[in-house]
Amino acid sequence: MSRKIFEAVKLNHINMKNRLIRSAIWEGIAEFDGSISSEAYEIYGELANGGIGAVIVGFTDISDDDYYIHGAMKLSRDDLIPQYRKLADVIHSAECPAIIQLALGAYYRKLPNGLTQQAEPDQMTESEIRQVTDMFIQAAVRAEKAGFDGVQIHAAHFFFLSRFISPRVNHRNDSYGGDALRRSRIIIDILKGIKENCPSRYDKNQLKRLHARRTYPIRKPRNLQAAR
Ligand SMILES: Cc1cc2nc3c(=O)[nH]c(=O)nc-3n(C[C@H](O)[C@H](O)[C@H](O)COP(=O)(O)O)c2cc1C
Repeated sequence: MSRKIFEAVKLNHINMKNRLIRSAIWEGIAEFDGSISSEAYEIYGELANGGIGAVIVGFTDISDDDYYIHGAMKLSRDDLIPQYRKLADVIHSAECPAIIQLALGAYYRKLPNGLTQQAEPDQMTESEIRQVTDMFIQAAVRAEKAGFDGVQIHAAHFFFLSRFISPRVNHRNDSYGGDALRRSRIIIDILKGIKENCPSRYDKNQLKRLHARRTYPIRKPRNLQAAR
């Protein structure tokens, strides 16, 4: 039987001592503003010290205004970078590469009255789509500043990007909708933007988690949530 899974491997600049990667897991224990709880530092320290080849930090939100799932970590603001540097350091101190998953549950537009409103792909303006694209790119820039070795773009499990590329959800007839290539444009723009803005680390080390199954139930939009 092949034992290659326990052999070291180099993925561009990422040196892994074996080929086992801890998949992204949302723990739901971050503070409301996306700050990392002390428990999370312990969990990631324990995972890295357990001998895994690399750790992917779970669902880390790119938006301050995303209320889709609770307790998610956020890399949506520069003032959060030091906490994420500490998290990357905790993982690196066990000689384990640290990758972080960047995600968006849903897009919430700000209304003039201060409330927010969930907008699904069909309802979004092109400018709002570009705003989401930019939020992913800026979060990747923050991840790079925090010392992470790579990012994983969460485009699965019927979260925002997964819905955007799904023909069941995306009925747009502009350059962001129609055939598979147009529906995927948002993801291609995010990847290109990350490559341009984070050349030192993410030139090749981007992992994508991608699927657009037709079978997920569409959640009823939770509109008009009270602004914080
Ligand atoms: C509680 C829980 C949270 C999860 N959070 C994430 C997540 O944040 N991002 C993600 O891509 N997958 C997430 N997943 C999916 C896991 O990464 C993994 O793909 C799934 O559990 C299947 O792997 P397994 O067969 O080893 O359990 C989560 C799964 C569970 C059970």
